[in-house]
Amino acid sequence: MSELRVQSGRMAARYKLAPSILSADFARLGEEVARIEKYADLLHVDAMDGHFVPPITIGPVVVKSLRKITGLPLECHLMVTDPLGQAEQFAEAGGTSVIAHIEPTPLLRRIREAGCQAALTLNPPTPLDAVLPWLERVDVLNVMTVNPGWAGQRFIREMLPKIAAARVEIDKRGLDVAIAVDGGIDLDTGREALDAGATVLGAASAIFSRPDPAEAARALKELLAEREAQS
Ligand code: DX5
Ligand code: ZN
Repeated sequence: MSELRVQSGRMAARYKLAPSILSADFARLGEEVARIEKYADLLHVDAMDGHFVPPITIGPVVVKSLRKITGLPLECHLMVTDPLGQAEQFAEAGGTSVIAHIEPTPLLRRIREAGCQAALTLNPPTPLDAVLPWLERVDVLNVMTVNPGWAGQRFIREMLPKIAAARVEIDKRGLDVAIAVDGGIDLDTGREALDAGATVLGAASAIFSRPDPAEAARALKELLAEREAQS
């Protein structure tokens, strides 16, 4: 099973930082990305369609523009009601991975056939059991640590045992599946998530809503680098 790709020339790391542009200033998106780029391993793109969750955010046209200005892998988090119909558009626009909320096998196959890595998402109320049948067919398990829809929500600490159980199951099966956490991640909650077994930290407001996004990204990256060195 393939690892998440990282920028060419970099060693593939196990522990990764995924800044989410949801809290960036979209009128200055290129500059915002440039500020944090050197600390990021992936760029997290939250696509919301106004149906699956109330907000409407961005789609493949923005992915296409991002693809031109950064070498970072673009992970497209599809909070949309029709991921099956839309995954290919994100792949064609230059997405590196597509994170879907739980969907059956055809979607995962389509994502991979479109040349993307496949990730499944667990919303907070969904038990780990719901994804166990698909673990062999995904590259990333994305554990939502807030309910999807908005940046800046409080980390749901009750998700930590779910992360730990996922780590046990993935290791028991000998799989190379990354565990990403998404929502309410900052230095403290990120550390707790890593302790529980996560390997990829997604963060929007803890980076882009801080006075100095580069410094915030650097501190998170340092935490990940420490874990990488210990692994
Ligand atoms: C929520 C999105 C998250 C969000 C995280 O639906 O999936 O990626 O951007 O925002 P923070 O890090 O502010 O909780
Ligand atoms: Zn997200």
